[in-house]
Amino acid sequence: MSKLKAVVIGCGAIGTRAHIPYLSQHSKVNVVAACDIDENACKKAKELNVPKIYQDWEKMLDIEKPDIVSVCTPNYLHKSMVIGAASRGIHVLCEKPMATTLADAKEMAEVVKKNDVKCMVGFTHRFMQENIKLKSIVDSGEIGTPFFSQVRFAHAGPENGWSDKDWWFKKAESGGGSLVDMAVHAIDITHWIMGPTRSVNARVATLIKKIEVDDNSCLILQNDKGMSIVNTSWSSPVGINGILVVGTKGAIERPYGEPMRICKGLTLADGTNKMEWQIVEMENIIDGYKAEFNAWIEYVIDDKKTVPTVTDGIAAQAVIEAAYKSSANAIMI
Ligand SMILES: NC(=O)c1ccc[n+]([C@@H]2O[C@H](COP(=O)([O-])OP(=O)(O)OC[C@H]3O[C@@H](n4cnc5c(N)ncnc54)[C@H](O)[C@@H]3O)[C@@H](O)[C@H]2O)c1
Repeated sequence: MSKLKAVVIGCGAIGTRAHIPYLSQHSKVNVVAACDIDENACKKAKELNVPKIYQDWEKMLDIEKPDIVSVCTPNYLHKSMVIGAASRGIHVLCEKPMATTLADAKEMAEVVKKNDVKCMVGFTHRFMQENIKLKSIVDSGEIGTPFFSQVRFAHAGPENGWSDKDWWFKKAESGGGSLVDMAVHAIDITHWIMGPTRSVNARVATLIKKIEVDDNSCLILQNDKGMSIVNTSWSSPVGINGILVVGTKGAIERPYGEPMRICKGLTLADGTNKMEWQIVEMENIIDGYKAEFNAWIEYVIDDKKTVPTVTDGIAAQAVIEAAYKSSANAIMI
């Protein structure tokens, strides 16, 4: 089989840290071109040995006629680029969030369906090996029936060590702040483990930074399998990140950067507290990005493979939109 011809739109942080390098090292992919409107970003792509660099993404698609395209641009551009690629019959890996509004995400999904192309949404956390292990433990019934989860994703903000651009802080370009940027991952992980969201209660606020979008969010969700909390922050110097799932026979805790552990035992109302913690050993851990790009290519090649798609992108977008509404209209008691 000849290699898939790949192009990347957007050579900023995620384009040059993940898409170009991981697609380039894949044995079934040839990265033929990349595109950016920023000279420095183009330079970075060149340094990664991308043979052709464009400034106009539509021109790149029309000339290169790739099999697959990565959309790695600011959130407000995902819609036109995914629609532009899908209409040309090109499979798309769209970075998260899928769009800046639920209506746009639905419109994109329609075009993807109509043109019979594949579209994966970049829910990177699903490909982290520890998260896959956590899900398999929960699904095995080892902690009993899960009824509660908590996902907290936090850091000091995208301007600290990630991206040098300021679109993140402009509502019209990002769609929102930490809720859009980070809760979208946390919501997707929650859906993956606890099932779809049935209701949303939220506080979304700009607590610390002088920005027009939110820097913190706290959501209480009712999911098919129980209730959950999603908490995000762009103002946490100590970005304690992780996942907790509690079931009827135990709990599993997955602090990012630390060993995952299962808790069993008994805690009674009289103060009896016998908890036993067991570290979950991880073997043959492969890098989450590598797993993500492997899954994307397998999905393009093999119809039986599954990955997060527009359905998951829309589900997360619906929760984001509901969270903003809930926060704006909530009655505080
Ligand atoms: N999956 C993940 O974990 C993850 C992590 C970080 C970012 N992201 C997502 O990836 C996307 C990009 O984020 P980033 O961190 O790379 O941002 P970034 O600002 O570093 O990069 C975006 C790039 O897009 C370029 N661009 C803007 N308009 C363009 C156009 N018309 N044509 C071509 N290029 C254009 C910019 O010049 C910039 O270089 C965002 O949607 C973000 O949410 C996903």
